[in-house]
Amino acid sequence: METVLLPAGDAGLAEAARILRQGGLVSFPTETVYGLGGLARDPKAIRAIFTAKGRPPTDPLILHLPEPDLTRAVTEGWLSSPVPAAAVILSKAFWPGPLTLVLPKGNQVNPEITAGLPTVAVRCPSHSVARQLLRLVGEPLAAPSANRFGRISPTDAMAVRQELDGRIPLILDGGPCPVGVESTVVRVTADGVEVLRPGGISTEEISKSLRTPVASRGATVKPESSQPSPGMLASHYAPRTPLYLCKEPIRNFLPGCFHLVFRQTQTNNPPLTLGLAPDGRLETAARELYRNLRLADESGAEKILVEPVPEGSWAEAIRDRLTRASTGTAIWKNQGWEITPKSGA
Ligand code: TXA
Ligand code: MG
Repeated sequence: METVLLPAGDAGLAEAARILRQGGLVSFPTETVYGLGGLARDPKAIRAIFTAKGRPPTDPLILHLPEPDLTRAVTEGWLSSPVPAAAVILSKAFWPGPLTLVLPKGNQVNPEITAGLPTVAVRCPSHSVARQLLRLVGEPLAAPSANRFGRISPTDAMAVRQELDGRIPLILDGGPCPVGVESTVVRVTADGVEVLRPGGISTEEISKSLRTPVASRGATVKPESSQPSPGMLASHYAPRTPLYLCKEPIRNFLPGCFHLVFRQTQTNNPPLTLGLAPDGRLETAARELYRNLRLADESGAEKILVEPVPEGSWAEAIRDRLTRASTGTAIWKNQGWEITPKSGA
């Protein structure tokens, strides 16, 4: 199959909507990462998403809603009633935007979307291209990130092409994604609220909005266990080159290693080095993270070394992705990097 790349103007959007209505797949930009969309109510489209990504059927998809309206999602049968009050508060506070809510599913939801779980993940993205496309189609799209399973999520159209060229008919190019890491996934049940995947909205912001401390599931689950959230796999978002998290700022630069320092200075900018945040801001580090991981992966280096990320509101999501991308940790000892493999990796 030839993969066409079109700019996300009127003609591109119309073509994307046409393909989607016929049950085809389209990659489109969201504020977080590029998604691979298909009609949520079409079982063939859902199966095609899993095939294009090489994703196991045990890993559920997120429904992308055209409007930030939980009541409408209930009326249309995507969610079941009653929607927990906390979900209504969170949707009002953060939608459209990088927040995914895991809620009891309605009878419209195909079990292949949810991997058989009784809950479904829903979000209303804020990116103008995503919203225009969802409104043109007029119904929810199931859309995982547009990467091959386990690999780095794409944050621009060329990265989607690298991942899925020849596997999908259309990529809508809407430029680089402004957030750069996936949405925060929050499960809301009658028993409480839990952050399953840190992301574009911090646990702190969620707690503030609900006026109560919310737990974040820091621990990962083993691949074979039944998943509360498959994005929680210990290894995910990973480059092909082994990546190690350094215990301290990098001061020694070896040939053959690619160094991702937090901020480049006069003394830490030898070859094969990139700053995660040239302006020192965590928000920038998040936005550029996957692009930098791709660059490091393509450099031909044997190892990627990543400096610790400072505290701040985006640190949780960045550290989560880096930990899942990593093979282990590294510490400088006796003129070399001493490696400790990640447990469970
Ligand atoms: O920012 C994002 O969320 C991007 C853009 C494209 O919207 N999408 C995305 O989708 O990251 P994906 O499929 O790569 O990750 C979805 C994650 C799953 O890995 C899983 O952790 C969680 O959402 N999820 C989906 N349905 C769930 C459910 N019923 N219960 C628990 N977790 C669920
Ligand atoms: Mg993904």
